[in-house]
Formats: sequence, C-alpha cells, structure tokens
Amino acid sequence: MNPISRHEFLQRTAMAGAGLLLASIEGFAVAQSKKIRVGVIGCGSVSTQYLPHLSRSSHAELVSTCDVIYERAKQQAATYNVPHHYPHIDAMLAGPAFDLFVNLTDMQEHGRLNRQALLAGRHVWSEKPMANTYSEGKALLDLATSRRLRIWGAPAVVNSPQFAFMSRTIREGTLGNVSSAHAHYGHLGPTWSAFFYEKDGGSLPDLGVYNLATLTGLLGPATSVMAMTSIVTPERTVDNKGTIKVEAEDNAMVLMNHGHGVLSHVQCGFNYFDPYGHEGKGQEKHTITVWGTHGTMGLVGYDWAPFGVDVATHAHETPQRFVPDPRSYVWQQGATVIADSLATGAEPLIAVEHALHVLEIIEAARESGRSGKRVNLRSTFRWPMVM
Ligand SMILES: NC(=O)c1ccc[n+]([C@@H]2O[C@H](COP(=O)([O-])OP(=O)(O)OC[C@H]3O[C@@H](n4cnc5c(N)ncnc54)[C@H](O)[C@@H]3O)[C@@H](O)[C@H]2O)c1
Repeated sequence: MNPISRHEFLQRTAMAGAGLLLASIEGFAVAQSKKIRVGVIGCGSVSTQYLPHLSRSSHAELVSTCDVIYERAKQQAATYNVPHHYPHIDAMLAGPAFDLFVNLTDMQEHGRLNRQALLAGRHVWSEKPMANTYSEGKALLDLATSRRLRIWGAPAVVNSPQFAFMSRTIREGTLGNVSSAHAHYGHLGPTWSAFFYEKDGGSLPDLGVYNLATLTGLLGPATSVMAMTSIVTPERTVDNKGTIKVEAEDNAMVLMNHGHGVLSHVQCGFNYFDPYGHEGKGQEKHTITVWGTHGTMGLVGYDWAPFGVDVATHAHETPQRFVPDPRSYVWQQGATVIADSLATGAEPLIAVEHALHVLEIIEAARESGRSGKRVNLRSTFRWPMVM
C-alpha cells in the first residue's frame, strides 16, 4: 500500500467518518489487525501483477489460487508460494478458509463468481467490471450488506497522489470555475483472450472504465450520458480461440453531464495506434485535461500509470509540473489496499458505489449509442472523494 502522510491519513479517516470505519460495523467478519487470508481466482495475465503485490503485503496471506485452466492455478501457486490451488470455484470455496476473494477472471464471469463468493461468506475485490450490468452489481452490494460482508471493484485510480492533487486543485479554486474535461485511453487491443471482444466485453469496461472513474471522481457523479459506440475491426485473432467475431464495442465516445453546467468527454478504443503500447511505459503526454476560467490542468501519462500533473493559470501562465512521482501508486494495488483496510479497519478511498456508478455509465453509453438518445442515471456516490 502507498505510504500516506499523517495529514492524508487524518483526511481519509475524517472523510470516512467514525460511523463508517470498517471495524465499527456490527458483526463485521474480520477482526482488526490480523492477516487477511486471500484466495485469487483467475491466474492469467493480470495475476502476474496482483500476486507479487499481494505477496509483499504484511496484511495479506495468500491461501489459494484457482483457474479453470488448472495448470495456471498450479503454476502461480508454485511461483508465489501459495499452499492450495484449484481448478474450480466450488473446490476453492470448499477448501481452506480465506477472507477475501480476489476475482481476476474474464469480465463476463465476474458477477456470477462474485455472487458465489459472497454467498460463501467471503469479502470480494473484483477486477472491472464487478458485474455485467448495474442492476446485477447493485444486487451484489445488497447481498454483501445483508450478510455483513464488503465488496469493491477496480479500478483503483482514485488512490494515486496525482488524482488527490487534481481533486484538491479543483476544490481549492486554482482553476477558477471548472466547466470541461477530456480523457482518452486506447491501444490495439489484447491479443491473448477472446472475452475482451465477446458480448459484455469491450473497450468501455476494459479501458474507458479508468477515465470514467477518474473524471467522475474529479468532477462528481454524472447525471446523464450521451454516447456513440462502434465496432471498427469486426474480426480478431486471439491466442485462446483463433479468429473470432467481435461483438462488443471497440470504439467509444462518451459525453457526461456532471450537473451545474460541467461537461466531460471520454474516448477509448481497441484501434488506437499507441507508441506506448499496452503497458503504457513512457507515456508522458496528457491523457486527461481539465479546463476552468482561471487555469488548465493536464495529467501526465495514463491515470493508471501517472507521472505528474501540469498546471497553468492566469497567475502562472507557464505550466508547472506537480507530483512528479511515478512510483508510489501502481494500478495493481487494489486487492492489497483492500486487504490492508480489512486488517486495520480504516475505510479505503475506493468506494463500491463509485464502481457501480461507472458501471451504470458504461451501460448507459451503450444504450445511448443504440438509441441515439440521452440516458439519465440513477446511481451516485459520496463526493468529493478527496477534500
Ligand atoms: N491484462 C491486463 O493488463 C489487465 C489490466 C487490468 C485489468 N485487467 C482485467 O483483469 C481481468 C482479467 O484479465 P486478464 O488479462 O488477466 O485475462 P486472462 O485471459 O489473461 O486471464 C483470465 C483468467 O481467468 C480464468 N477464468 C475464466 N473464467 C474462470 C472461472 N469461471 N473460474 C476460474 N478461472 C476462470 C481464465 O482461464 C484465465 O486464466 C479482466 O477483467 C481485465 O479487464 C487486465
């Protein structure tokens, strides 16, 4: 987990409020200050980033791995010294107990598997999206609450010091009256698994999700959405299924209304030539820009791998770079941060209501793309996230 200053810690806990501290929830399943036992399901590409991060955490103890491609579960268990490995979720949940279910499987599987884990009494950290639809995700949250369990969904972008800086810069009025923002993220698309292109896959839940979380986190919950989506490349060749038909959008433009006249735009896609590649290494241009009457601000690098924030204002027209620190935040920290939170009782900045809101935006964007109409949103989350 990122080291945070005492000042930041006090701000976060003040935001959470005494009544929201995890430990204060009556009957909360995990006692404070103990190791959180973790089971990881899905041992593909992303697990190679999560498992080393979790294995370095003083609050997490890796108990089991699981993958329907059993060789992967065995391999990752051997590499990261995990004592148990399984070819199926049923066997994993029936095996030695663990507290936190970390779901790194195909996007389409998340809702079903998360539900099964909650029914088996486990807290859940899910890669994005936490479910296939907003109502499925909301039902998962209701199920968790009814069982005094917790569920959270990726991404973890709000944890970066660059996000905190941008949020404070807006709140403090440095940019004047903020009206507009833009964000973009794209590359040529994953080559290893078909699910990215199948129904309920797509560039919105895989890529746009980061920018949607960042812009709603900075500007507040969206009240309505208009969008266009398309499929540019109708066929793809992927490692696990050969040549497949693309069913989910690989190109998207989303407009959000944040209320009070504030509008923003996110574009994402799997057809972007990107000299920085899928890993994003070396991306030092602005991928997010926010405009106000007195100044403008640009996030350097991607929001999941930020390098700093450039600010230019009336008072200082030459852009200045702030938080030029690329190391203290990594996108794969989500499950570790949640294990830390469960162990210490401190409410994390990442909020499940925020993940659900982003999921509703993705669904609304698709609906707007189909109908050509503006779609109103019903979900919201506690904002501002950083004071
Ligand atoms: N790869 C990345 O760079 C990256 C980055 C951030 C987030 N993500 C997200 O992480 C998730 C996984 O992506 P990935 O790239 O690792 O995919 P992947 O195909 O490499 O890995 C997914 C794994 O899940 C397993 N699996 C699928 N259904 C299962 C089930 N029912 N039970 C057990 N195992 C099952 C598959 O066999 C596979 O090994 C997706 O939600 C993706 O959007 C990926």
